[in-house]
Amino acid sequence: MQNEKMPNGFSELTATESFKRLRRLRMTDAFRAMVRETELSTKDFIYPLFVVPGSGIRREVGSMPGVYQLSVDEVLRESVDVKTLGIPAVILFGIPEHKDEMGSEAYSEHGIVQTAVRAMKKEVPELVVITDVCLCEYTSHGHCGIIRDNEIVNDESIELLTKEALTHAQAGADMVAPSDMFDGRVQAIRRVLDQHGFPNLPIMSYAAKYASGFYGPFREAAQSTPQFGDRRSHQMDPANSEEAIREVQQDILEGADIVMVKPALSYLDVIRRVKDQFGMPTAAYNVSGEYSMIKAAGRNGWIDEQRVMMEVLTSIKRAGADLILTYFAKDAAKLLRDT
Ligand code: PBG
Repeated sequence: MQNEKMPNGFSELTATESFKRLRRLRMTDAFRAMVRETELSTKDFIYPLFVVPGSGIRREVGSMPGVYQLSVDEVLRESVDVKTLGIPAVILFGIPEHKDEMGSEAYSEHGIVQTAVRAMKKEVPELVVITDVCLCEYTSHGHCGIIRDNEIVNDESIELLTKEALTHAQAGADMVAPSDMFDGRVQAIRRVLDQHGFPNLPIMSYAAKYASGFYGPFREAAQSTPQFGDRRSHQMDPANSEEAIREVQQDILEGADIVMVKPALSYLDVIRRVKDQFGMPTAAYNVSGEYSMIKAAGRNGWIDEQRVMMEVLTSIKRAGADLILTYFAKDAAKLLRDT
């Protein structure tokens, strides 16, 4: 076998010779640990939270066992838990009181996310609070932007997203994460944040976000299923990876500080390409469907849930992700703490 990394002559040796035993370093726990290439850490995790109006609410999402819609008081309890486990950050999704055509609660000063952020930054200031910036949870039609003549319009929607991002920042968010996939939104948000005194507030962009079937359970959790049509006019075609590079490049040029690939598991190749090409802080979203599949199979006794969870998270990191948004964050943090 030729290998240009090896000294001359080495290539003539054959695999049958005894020193070619790759198993030697797999024989003990100690050896395996010494040569392990990828180390998963609780510091890699970002935990998604769903916040709803009201108080004392902790409603489990049917398709996502262990994931809850939480009222602000419960979000605060959860935040303390998350912080105590050593998870550095959460990402917030809001379910509003009322939905309308324009998603107006998304950019209201008294919106659910804005209210939650203010409370969180008061009670658990050290926990990094990232906010998802999108309209789909807030519009009556469930789309990520405004509809005109049956089209999800780009530029007008972006204006509302900039308002949403700004109100999140004003409420005290540490970072904003636009998840819509409209063209030019990172630049527009960057500009508005800069103009209003938030030049140091980072943007994590959902840069290569695919039109994926794996978001199904999230749409139950966030009550954001589109009432007609789908998201294929703005989210990416799962068949494309060159285009992911163009999408990510665009967002970097527009000012994104962290770039995200989403979903994670069917797109590990994209994570690797993005990390290699740009060397940016790279996040991957281990999405709802990826979580639910493992939960369901685990509950049926078809797979070992904890083992598969750790394997999946490790593979996302091995692919090149520095940060992993995952519903498993708490479970994985507990396992990492106790082993
Ligand atoms: C949009 C958004 C979605 C997810 C995160 N942000 C849903 C979508 O694009 O339809 C999906 C996350 C998941 O499936 O876990 N606000």
